[in-house]
Amino acid sequence: MAPPLLEVEGLAYAYAGAVAVRDVAFAVGEGEVVALVGANGAGKSTSVKCVAGALRPARGRIRFAGDDVAGLPVHEVVARGITLVPEGRLVFPQMTIEDNLLVGGWTPRARDERGRRLDEVFAIFARLAERRHQLAGSLSGGEQQMLAIARGLMSGPRLIILDEPSLGLMPKLVRELFRLIASLRERGVSILLVEQNVHQSLKIADRAYVLEKGSIALSGPGAELADNPYVREAFLGLAEA
Ligand SMILES: Nc1ncnc2c1ncn2[C@@H]1O[C@H](COP(=O)(O)OP(=O)(O)OP(=O)(O)O)[C@@H](O)[C@H]1O
Ligand SMILES: [Mg+2]
Repeated sequence: MAPPLLEVEGLAYAYAGAVAVRDVAFAVGEGEVVALVGANGAGKSTSVKCVAGALRPARGRIRFAGDDVAGLPVHEVVARGITLVPEGRLVFPQMTIEDNLLVGGWTPRARDERGRRLDEVFAIFARLAERRHQLAGSLSGGEQQMLAIARGLMSGPRLIILDEPSLGLMPKLVRELFRLIASLRERGVSILLVEQNVHQSLKIADRAYVLEKGSIALSGPGAELADNPYVREAFLGLAEA
């Protein structure tokens, strides 16, 4: 069997001595949607920031497409095909939608493809296409979240990491977002999904990991974890009958 696209082992990170991630291991196969779920403060964002190069892990192995990428700076990690769409809608409000997207395609590898990618992204996000010359700050919260994801796609990632993309979205937009994630998988993008919306993410995920106090507590196929009594009680608000 081919090794997974992303393989993380023994990952650890501490903020000024406060351990946030102590021993995290997970993998994402080519073409998979993998969910990373867990309570507030469990270490989800810290783990994915380490993968994306935004934080330098204290310990651990991060292999991507066969290469060791642990400790590489963000631009190197992006160049290899991993893009993180961080928590919060960090679009540039005073720039147009189109310019926000072009910023996402700035890397040397992506630059030649920017025109084609822009067309592709506009084909996926019709509402962004209609409003391409408007300021990003004029978009609704949900639309800004879509723009942040679209901008992530402009670098042409093999793996896109979405940190809490559904946070603060109304239910209709959440459903739209999860449909979008499924369609990205069909386009061959692998996805690591960090979510508080455990119910929806387990439904869509090929596999999932439950992070607890900086370590992986449980893992398995999404559907299996959705049936797990512990997961049902802790995250789905469903006590066992
Ligand atoms: N910049 C920081 N400085 C100090 N401690 C931090 C910092 N960022 C996170 N932490 C701490 O590290 C631990 C893990 O935080 P992290 O943000 O990774 O959790 P999370 O699972 O993403 O939580 P959430 O669901 O709230 O986003 C928490 O105890 C948090 O308080
Ligand atoms: Mg977080």
